[in-house]
Amino acid sequence: MPHWSHLLRDVPGFPRPGIVFKDITPVLADAAAFAAAVEAMATPWREAPPVAFVGIESRGFIFAAALAQRLGTGFVPVRKPGKLPAHTLHHDYALEYGRDRIEIHVDAVPPGAPVVLVDDVLATGGTLLAALALLRAQGADVLGAAVLVELSALDARARWPQGVPLHAALRA
Ligand code: PRP
Ligand code: MG
Repeated sequence: MPHWSHLLRDVPGFPRPGIVFKDITPVLADAAAFAAAVEAMATPWREAPPVAFVGIESRGFIFAAALAQRLGTGFVPVRKPGKLPAHTLHHDYALEYGRDRIEIHVDAVPPGAPVVLVDDVLATGGTLLAALALLRAQGADVLGAAVLVELSALDARARWPQGVPLHAALRA
């Protein structure tokens, strides 16, 4: 286990009764832990960095921007609906109850450009799979995905395409 694993905090009952929220903010607040976490997420991509790390709003932004600075790449945001100002592409996906949508600027990534998706937590995998579909529709070459924490019990990996590397700095 990485030395910062004790800084991930379980918050029972947030945002709803019955949900145990994985709170990453103590990792971010600790200089050594934040640096080590970003380093662990950067390692798989150091030999052949992408053109950009694509962060998923909102907590994915924190790590994607840090990775971009660490490896000298661009940063591209995937946002919740209605936030991006220019021409966008969207992808709709199913939630347990209802639907959700994510958006990207159509010109955010040049056609065929290699990118890596970034988020903080992989739970059901719905968010990351939606981002993969969106980036592929946009014409990007998705090299893989990087998450800080994978909640292994939910088995998102079983739904993730086999040929696309998915790296987690920590499995909880
Ligand atoms: C959380 C988390 C991931 C996603 C993981 O984001 O930051 O993005 O859920 O869940 P999944 O694998 O089941 O899709 P949330 O929607 O709570 O928004 P936030 O990042 O803006 O806090
Ligand atoms: Mg999120």
